[in-house]
Amino acid sequence: MADLHGLQRAVAGVHAGKLAGDLAGYLESDPAGDLPGHLRGLFPVLAQHVNGAPLAYLDNAATTQTPLPVLDAMRDFELHERANIHRGVHTLSQRATNAFDRAREVLKRFVGAGPAHELVFTSGTTDALNQVAHGLSTAGAGPALLRPGDQIVVSGLEHHANLVPWQQAARRCGATLRILLPDAQGRLHAEDLKRLLTPRTRIFALTACANATGERPPYETLLALAASAGALTVLDAAQAMGHEVPDFGALACDFMAFSGHKMYGPMGTGALVGRRAALERLVPLRYGGDMVAWVTYADASFADLPARLEGGTPNVAGAVGLAAAAAFIDRVGRSRIDVHVRALRAHAASGLAAIDGVTVLSPATGSAGASAIVSFVAEGVHPHDIGTLLDEQGIAVRTGHHCAQPLTDHLGLGPTTRASFALYNTHDEVERLLAGVARATKVLR
Ligand code: ALA
Repeated sequence: MADLHGLQRAVAGVHAGKLAGDLAGYLESDPAGDLPGHLRGLFPVLAQHVNGAPLAYLDNAATTQTPLPVLDAMRDFELHERANIHRGVHTLSQRATNAFDRAREVLKRFVGAGPAHELVFTSGTTDALNQVAHGLSTAGAGPALLRPGDQIVVSGLEHHANLVPWQQAARRCGATLRILLPDAQGRLHAEDLKRLLTPRTRIFALTACANATGERPPYETLLALAASAGALTVLDAAQAMGHEVPDFGALACDFMAFSGHKMYGPMGTGALVGRRAALERLVPLRYGGDMVAWVTYADASFADLPARLEGGTPNVAGAVGLAAAAAFIDRVGRSRIDVHVRALRAHAASGLAAIDGVTVLSPATGSAGASAIVSFVAEGVHPHDIGTLLDEQGIAVRTGHHCAQPLTDHLGLGPTTRASFALYNTHDEVERLLAGVARATKVLR
């Protein structure tokens, strides 16, 4: 746990308003570099007891916790710079506008976006994906991109947020929705995608990591295949951003969506990154202030990107916090976090598989498809009961269909129990999970 003086010095050394997330001194005081080390001390929420036991927070695929430097960045903005943006000639408004613009630049660099790309702030992944599906299936100045008889291909691993908007879009436009189904182990295959793609395939939507199973599909290959067939490609990167950050500039990807609250940032924040030419094709989801160029009683013309897709007053403190979270991840080190969470997952997966009656969902430990999530079922025991018994021991996991019901149904599983890891989790917490599940399955069966 944290050396508190070191922690305070490190946090005091962070000038949050500059989005630097400068943890240098703090990290250098831990040259061995094993995570979480004393970084855990930057997350005060973890230092509490729940139901009489130290909290083991293993529900990071739902929401990660937020470190002090990110909270400080938002507090700093609220205390010194809060004003509406793009609307005032006064100094505070200009400072707030600068903070918002800086946050956008930090995030664009973070995801590898280049000059041909743009980043639009959203309230999260769901909001971003709805904007894309709505924007391609609604008539604006011209007809909708999607026409009757067109095809949308969506992977069978998706969270409802990357499926239901496409169902609605297909219905609106008379397009056909085709599903790239996973095999019995929950893996996607390029050969199956090749068979689905046709000259009428307009859109291919895919996750960078399945939230229900933890499967990390070969999204680089799959996106490239769909793009070469002429489809617009959409990547849901929500579950990858906290450790493996997809390099947007290197992908055959037109749109990528992510959320702040799964990458140590604030809830209700996120972004849609896109190729400018693809973003230009989107009909806005929200009309109102800031996204217009000129308005008469009869009509309106619209602002350029990114403002055109950001109608209304944005969550400026949230954008500042989201950029600070990106700076924090980079300061700690993406690959360092990735190695750590995969090791925790491997530990949990092999330990769970050794418990009588427990089946761990693929991906196999150590495979390229393994990420920070482990999902499992226990014969004869309902996941909600396991989750409740674990909670009684201070261990937080998620149970149910994980907003991916078609996938858990397709795999013949129904609800599962899911543990998911972040940079602050420890192998001791994994041991507590294993002991807790072993006890729960014995008591409940
Ligand atoms: N999408 C979040 C999850 O997987 C809420 O739990």
